[in-house]
Order: sequence, then structure tokens, then C-alpha cells
Amino acid sequence: MSGFEVFNNKVAVITGAASGLGQGFATVTAANGATVVAADINLEGAEKTAERITAAGGKATAKQVDVRDAAAVAKLVDDAVAEHGRIDYMFNNAGIAVQGPMQEIPIEHWDEIIDINLKGVVHGTSAAYKHMYKQKSGHIVNTASLAGLVPSPLLSPYSATKFGVVGLSDSLRVEAQGTGVKVTALCPGFIESGIYDSARYSGGLNAEIGRKQIPLIVPLEEGVDKLLKGVVKEKRVVTLPLYGYLFWYGYRATPVAGIKLSGFLARRQMKAIKKAAR
Ligand SMILES: NC(=O)c1ccc[n+]([C@@H]2O[C@H](COP(=O)([O-])OP(=O)(O)OC[C@H]3O[C@@H](n4cnc5c(N)ncnc54)[C@H](O)[C@@H]3O)[C@@H](O)[C@H]2O)c1
Repeated sequence: MSGFEVFNNKVAVITGAASGLGQGFATVTAANGATVVAADINLEGAEKTAERITAAGGKATAKQVDVRDAAAVAKLVDDAVAEHGRIDYMFNNAGIAVQGPMQEIPIEHWDEIIDINLKGVVHGTSAAYKHMYKQKSGHIVNTASLAGLVPSPLLSPYSATKFGVVGLSDSLRVEAQGTGVKVTALCPGFIESGIYDSARYSGGLNAEIGRKQIPLIVPLEEGVDKLLKGVVKEKRVVTLPLYGYLFWYGYRATPVAGIKLSGFLARRQMKAIKKAAR
């Protein structure tokens, strides 16, 4: 992959690096010369990511972290700075999905997703920004979602956390103007990863039914490549594929039409759930 020379000799801390997008970000940044700290709650998975990178001649170490734990995330970042002298990229990427009709979603699923998807990103952003602000450089890359830009029925908890991540990223991007620190929110549509199998489902939904309703799933490598190209360009928001841009621009231009389209998709999904439950 070309165009990623900017990662050469940089230090990148990546959460959720055991699987999916995080593993992809770790692999590509390391292949382009970055020193990667691959962090995940799944230590074995993070170690596999780091081993693959080092076997290919790259530089990576694996760390276990639960992003819900603010002190642990701060330690992860502080240790990376102590070891490597700086932090150039903080990918706050770890996340889960919660899917189901509102009336069926247990409050525990809300707590869990807010703690991981929103507070986890807050913890990483806060920890990394302190160092980057002092360094007068760095790039915070927060993985949000297309669900952080447009309404996403049957994904209300997920969408709520991702709108929060976009709000945090946008606000800090403005606040950080003139400090040398950049902030990007990644807002992709559906990408092949482990998230569909690990999602917390309720109300008759499951991974199989959920996946059947997805119009297009972007292959992981392509998703990682396009998202990182947006990072290199220091974009405010990066989305994909084309329907991501259409949906996002459409919703901004005429929210009523966006809500109608969301409603249509939700009704389709509810029909599929009822059919599968028969
Ligand atoms: N795949 C998609 O379609 C898609 C679309 C938009 C946004 N995203 C976002 O991309 C990010 C990465 O997800 P993915 O699709 O690669 O899924 P994935 O399930 O393949 O990877 C998520 C990783 O996060 C880790 N993780 C979960 N909880 C954690 C915790 N408490 N502490 C530390 N690590 C934890 C998991 O162990 C896993 O390795 C998520 O924030 C997700 O919401 C994914």
C-alpha cells in the first residue's frame, strides 16, 4: 500500500488491535515503518497481531488493556511514551455493537456499550492528548461509525455512542487548532470484521439475521486502506463506501429524507426478524 510514508518512524498506540480494523491499522502502519503498541482486552489476539508484525520485520509490542479502565488506558499511553519517547498516533478503536429494538434492549447492554465505545474513547483521547499537547504534535484517530453521522434504527445504543465520539472528536479538533494536534473521526459503513459475531443482540436479532440485512460489506483490507488514506489527509471525518457519503450528505441536506430512508431499512429488518422467528 502506498501513500503511507507518513507513518515511518512514528509511534502508534492502537486499541482493539487483536481483530478487525485495529489489527489492520496496526499491520499497515507497522509495515510503513511505525512502532506499534497493539492493545486489546484480548491479550492473546494482540500478541498474535504483534507477532505477525515482527515476523514481517516490523516493530510492535502487545499490551492488554480494558478501555473501560481509565487508569489502565492512561498507563498504556504513559508507558508507550516512556518507552518510545513520544506518541504520534492514538487510535481509539476498540468497540462493540449492541443491536435490537429499544423495548427489548437490557440496560446492561447500554451500560456496556457506553463504557466501551464512548468512555473508552474518552479515556484514550484524554490520556494521549496530554502528551501530544506538550509535544505540540500528534494525531488522535477515533473510530466512530456511519451510525455516528446518521440515524441507525435497531442500533440506538451503538449510534448514541458513535454520535458522542464524533462530537468529542469535532470539538477537540477545533480546540486543538494551533496546538499541532490533529483529530479525525472514522465513520465507516459496514466492514468485514469480528464485530457482528461479538455484538450483543436482543429482541430476536442475531448475527445471521443482522448480516442478511446489510446491503454491502466492505472487505477489511479495502476498509483499512481507505480509512488510513483519510487519516493521512488529516480529514475531519472519513466515511465509506459511497453509500456512506450519500447517506451522510443526504441526511445533512434534508434530515427528513434521511429519517425516511432509515425508517424503510428498519421496517425491512423488523420484517426479517419476524420471519426468522416464525
Ligand atoms: N466493522 C464494521 O462494520 C464497523 C463499522 C463502523 C465502525 N466500526 C468500529 O470499528 C471499531 C473496531 O471494530 P471492528 O469492526 O474491527 O470489530 P472487531 O470485533 O473485529 O474488533 C474489535 C476489537 O475491540 C476489542 N475490544 C472490545 N472491548 C474491549 C475493551 N473493553 N477493551 C479493549 N479492547 C476491547 C475486541 O477484543 C476486538 O479485538 C469499533 O469501534 C467499531 O464500532 C466497525
